[in-house]
Amino acid sequence: CGIVGYVGNRPALSIVIDGLRRLEYRGYDSAGVAIIDSELVKTEKKAGKLANLEKALAERSGDGIEAGTTGIGHTRWATHGGPTDRNAHPHMSADGRVAVIHNGIIENFARLRAELEATGVEFLSDTDTECAAHLLAAEMRALREAGGVDGPALLAEGMRLVVRRLEGAFTLLAVDVDVPDAVVAARRNSPLVVGRGNGENFLASDVSAFIEHTREAIELGQDQVVLITPAGIEITDFDGAPAIGKEFHIDWDASAAEKGGYDYFMLKEIAEQPQAIADTLLGRLSERGEIILDEVRLTDQDLRDVDKVFIVACGTSFHAGMIAKYAIEHWVRIPCEVELASEFRYRDPILDRSTLVIVISQSGETMDTLMALRHAKEQKARVLAICNTNGSTIPRESDAVLYTHGGPEIAVASTKAFLTQLAACYLIGLHLAQIRGVMYADEVAAVVEKLRQTPDGMRTLLDRMEEVRELARDLRTASTILFIGRHVGFPVALEGALKLKELAYMHAEGFAAGELKHGPIALIDEGTPVVCVVPSPAGRGVIRDKVVSNIQEVRARGARTIVIAEEGDEDVRAFADHLIPVPHTPTLLAPLMTTIPLQILACEIATARGNDVDQPRNLAKSVTVE
Ligand code: G6P
Repeated sequence: CGIVGYVGNRPALSIVIDGLRRLEYRGYDSAGVAIIDSELVKTEKKAGKLANLEKALAERSGDGIEAGTTGIGHTRWATHGGPTDRNAHPHMSADGRVAVIHNGIIENFARLRAELEATGVEFLSDTDTECAAHLLAAEMRALREAGGVDGPALLAEGMRLVVRRLEGAFTLLAVDVDVPDAVVAARRNSPLVVGRGNGENFLASDVSAFIEHTREAIELGQDQVVLITPAGIEITDFDGAPAIGKEFHIDWDASAAEKGGYDYFMLKEIAEQPQAIADTLLGRLSERGEIILDEVRLTDQDLRDVDKVFIVACGTSFHAGMIAKYAIEHWVRIPCEVELASEFRYRDPILDRSTLVIVISQSGETMDTLMALRHAKEQKARVLAICNTNGSTIPRESDAVLYTHGGPEIAVASTKAFLTQLAACYLIGLHLAQIRGVMYADEVAAVVEKLRQTPDGMRTLLDRMEEVRELARDLRTASTILFIGRHVGFPVALEGALKLKELAYMHAEGFAAGELKHGPIALIDEGTPVVCVVPSPAGRGVIRDKVVSNIQEVRARGARTIVIAEEGDEDVRAFADHLIPVPHTPTLLAPLMTTIPLQILACEIATARGNDVDQPRNLAKSVTVE
């Protein structure tokens, strides 16, 4: 989603709309604005592209909306609830005095809504955002009655009182008609930057929205509230203590803006992975510790009756499925097979009512996967989709859906969608294990907690990829690169090789490390680069030791080894020509970490070879033919 806020002395509407246009690259399916003018909050919101919103605005011209100098705007990418006019932001308080826009999920929204409804508030949408609008209006009323604070400070105080009651992740922006020259915003776990202008100030999800107007920006910290007026910017924490944002100068120009300052969408999407994982996990555990899927047209009994799982997908999504097999069989204790969608139905697989077919698709439109899904349904199997695109065909035709909240993926080669698919697979494995009584709620919660810690580790890892970049430049002329791994490291090796083929157009192959000696080891020559994915020594030490032996085998035959191993695993250093340490993660979850250096490696080798990494030759993002 994209968020923009403006306060100053120029008409806000055109600045807000231009800002939203700059954020279009983030993807969206509805848009809206709220402008304060002549003691009224004027709003317009529409499903579809910005052009729809602009058309609606043009039709109402003359009512002054284009003149107001305080405004907020939003583009929404639907995850929960369809992309309708009604669900589009802004949302208003019942008295029409307050307008709010929001990114993220308010996890305790059901409780807050019940509480507000008990006081007589009527809701006009199904969104969690609307409760923030009603809460803010109520807090503002109470503050005014109590007296003391007034002016813009009142709005900031009202917002602080609201956010202290919210759980989950959010960027919230609000305006109040009685505080006409101010926009207030709060940030927890969702991006928000401030643009410092001259007699005017800006808020946005990223700086590209206001780069035309100012290059001086301030990054907000976690759990902070910012109030912008034409004259100033005031930042506090949620309790009102003054805080200082990180000031920075934007030194790239508007043409890089749509990629958020990155050279390629793919680099941006790789960098977004920690947030994408956090968003996918958000709001998935109920208060009773149960995992929540998005759309379930299956009963718990249906899921208890499952005696076999098939995972069906293509390309990178297939690799996510391969990893899921390890987790599902380990946690759920039922057989799980993974199959390429293009092979599945022609093989005449044995399916019936007690088979659960999990289809994984970023786009939700891949024809091979869709055909496999239809075949499974014809055979009466239950189908559960993991998908990144709300309302696409695959989730529509499935019996249950878990959406990956990765946000739009634009680069053809999949990165953040892959990692969020893994997170979704883990959640489904845990859900099945819980429903079938194989795991207790506290065991499930413990794994979810570990999952929730991975974004921090991923951020640390992403911050120290410089060595991988250097290595990539060095490997750009290699004639082949081999990848080896065991257990969940095997599909990671396959994914590393696939990324390299897709982006660098180089020969690359992934192998199960134990299988090398049965043939592929003959490929190893003096200097052949071999990327080795080493499991954590904690947990499954045996597998780790076996991989280390395999590394020695290839090294003895002249290979140049690039070893991805857990930090602190010092023993592997002796066998590594290049060591890439990754933060500790439990074995089954490790692909969330170990995949990242492989993505960077492929992306950088491709760049060094002069390739367009966003649009590799011969490939399409969504393949709608069989
Ligand atoms: C195409 C893309 C791949 C992707 C595959 C499956 O081939 O180039 O990156 O992994 O389709 O796509 P899906 O949208 O079904 O996950």
